[in-house]
Amino acid sequence: MIVIENASEILTIPHGYNKPKKGNEMRDLGIIKNSNIWIDRGKIIKITKELPDKIEEKIDASGKIVMPAFVDPHTHLVFSGIRDFELSLKMQGKSYLEIQNAGGGIYYTVDKTRNASEEELYEESSKRLEYMVKHGTLGAEAKSGYGIDIENEIKMLKVIKRLSENYSIEISPTFLLHIIPKNREEKEYVEYISDNIEKIKDYAKNVDVFCDKGAFSKESTELFLKKAKEQGFKLKMHADELEYIGCSSLIKKFDFISMDHLLKTPDEIINEMSKKNTVAVLLPGTPFTLFQESFSDARKFIKNNVAVAIGTDLNPNCYTENMQEIISLSIYRMRMTVEEAIVASTYNAAFASGLQDKLGSIEVGKDANLIIMDAKSYTEIGYHFGVNLVTEIIKKGKVIS
Ligand code: NIG
Ligand code: FE
Repeated sequence: MIVIENASEILTIPHGYNKPKKGNEMRDLGIIKNSNIWIDRGKIIKITKELPDKIEEKIDASGKIVMPAFVDPHTHLVFSGIRDFELSLKMQGKSYLEIQNAGGGIYYTVDKTRNASEEELYEESSKRLEYMVKHGTLGAEAKSGYGIDIENEIKMLKVIKRLSENYSIEISPTFLLHIIPKNREEKEYVEYISDNIEKIKDYAKNVDVFCDKGAFSKESTELFLKKAKEQGFKLKMHADELEYIGCSSLIKKFDFISMDHLLKTPDEIINEMSKKNTVAVLLPGTPFTLFQESFSDARKFIKNNVAVAIGTDLNPNCYTENMQEIISLSIYRMRMTVEEAIVASTYNAAFASGLQDKLGSIEVGKDANLIIMDAKSYTEIGYHFGVNLVTEIIKKGKVIS
């Protein structure tokens, strides 16, 4: 038996009814104080004040908290090249779309990614994955989207697959319909992708689409989602980030596992979302790195009983792998409580990624995918910001770092 001993707090985040947590449920961390976690063959066996007779290995958590490892429900983990040079453009007041329309932004990364070999992409992305693990993330969703033709999208998805096989992170792979190639018409391009989407089946579980001004229209999005749904993909959407052009209203026609960004979502749609188990994935790093004053209205989503998760949006515009930073931004810029931010970065994030069977809570019978944090109480998380509080990362009962 492996024992994690004497934790000052264990945040179990108890299981609901196999649904993401909404409203006040997001404040329930299921805290157990001054206890031990017994682990056998990678699984959690017991949470108790007692110790077993036979102990193979002890992991000391005295004066620290134990919680489920983070899940990052929205990443563009695989890409080539960074866009540090855009920071000065953004500082001069250039908007995301101005930079993109001048050939920068996503287009810049598309060129770099298409020109990179699978090996080069793997090398670059594995470094990011190591940062994720170091900061306590053991589950993530990862998107393609910078290849823009089927061949290059598959190249990206193969890299995602190799990364998930070779590292400790559980990855949920997503095909992302990201941007219209410069020399193509939207309609013709969306038909080409939709007609070929079955070729992606071996590589991705989910599809996502950037539905917004400057990206795909509501009509194109609907056409693509219909085809993807027929092929059995789970659905996600980048919605209402820059403007509301009706994208999130597609909730009335489709079941999404998540809708992401949601900065301009009207009240009526928030109400529609509350009727379903679609997770609102809020990404405060994005407005933060775009020098924007306004963030998603997390309070409104939670008050209206929508399940909320938070994620990094890791990409060359918003360059962080650290979920603890996102918890701080969620508290300070979206006014989420620390309890809500913890549930949003673990339990609900696991649902938004389809990883809830493996991650997101500490429960008897579940894999022991946990982190130990250098904090006496969970109230220090997010409050103590800009540092890495993770001291141990435990994947299936084994300390990995
Ligand atoms: O989620 N909004 C669209 N896509 C990404 C950004 C990708 C990029 O800028 O390279 C996002 O923010
Ligand atoms: Fe994104």
